[in-house]
Amino acid sequence: MAWIRKDLLGLEELGKEEIELILSTAESFKEVSSREIKKVPALRGKTVVNLFYEPSTRTRVSFEVAAKRLSADVINIATESSSIKKGETLVDTGANIEALKADIIVIRHNASGAAAMLARRVNISVVNAGDGWHEHPTQALLDIFTLKEKLGHISGLKVSIVGDIAHSRVARSNIWGLTKLGAQVTVCAPKMLIPPEIEKMGVKVSDNINDALKDADAVNVLRMQFERDLGTAFPQQLEYFKNFGITEERLKKAKKNIIVMHPGPINRGIEIESSVADGANSVILEQVTNGIAVRMAVLFLVAQAQEKIAFSG
Ligand code: CP
Repeated sequence: MAWIRKDLLGLEELGKEEIELILSTAESFKEVSSREIKKVPALRGKTVVNLFYEPSTRTRVSFEVAAKRLSADVINIATESSSIKKGETLVDTGANIEALKADIIVIRHNASGAAAMLARRVNISVVNAGDGWHEHPTQALLDIFTLKEKLGHISGLKVSIVGDIAHSRVARSNIWGLTKLGAQVTVCAPKMLIPPEIEKMGVKVSDNINDALKDADAVNVLRMQFERDLGTAFPQQLEYFKNFGITEERLKKAKKNIIVMHPGPINRGIEIESSVADGANSVILEQVTNGIAVRMAVLFLVAQAQEKIAFSG
């Protein structure tokens, strides 16, 4: 199948085949990072702009590394030292980046829908690097890529997503991606951190961590997002750790080879015990490494689609 979208905005809008195409393209790019010269000319002459309105370590650096491995030029816009500080709107900033002849904008924004809004207003490609509580598609793709690499398939896997589901774009993108590929997803959290009607997304819901871990092939542990004004919805940190924290003791009752994932950054001792984050079941740093190949695939596919759209007039 051919990729025909100029943008990657979320996994909700993608079909199974499109997700599989990104994953198989990422598989072929993964080898590039193990070469002595970690570069291919696929995006030579293209310019990628990282436009991040929220803090990021993994996603921003990973997109920059991915773009450079594809030989693209990369520009990072720090909102603190740009004209965004003077009140420039997102659409005006995007229009100016387009006027500067960039080819792809990678955007992270605290407003749900910001990436889609920008994509409607510019002709160049837009890649969503996380918008509010809505979606973080490349995080879910790298999570799924890592699971597939470890277990060989996604269909039929039991994956539990544990933590602050209500405020999590990572949870939403994982649910869309995993269910489209045939995994059985359970979300587990205190009731106040489960969004209403989440069952309509095709997931099971539990507020018992032992039940959620019992038969799971993998657990994806979400970060508590203290920066998002959790207010009265959030139980005390110690109480949360006691009832929902992923600990060595709890993993003893799970499948021996359960895969432990976390999108990062980790709050050690709040959602996950330090020894589990660093332990034998953890693939947390492998997720980060796989993020490069997945983002290379996404940048490559949207750039290719843009060329096809330009060619067809
Ligand atoms: N997982 C993730 O999005 O991490 P960053 O916020 O550091 O990019």
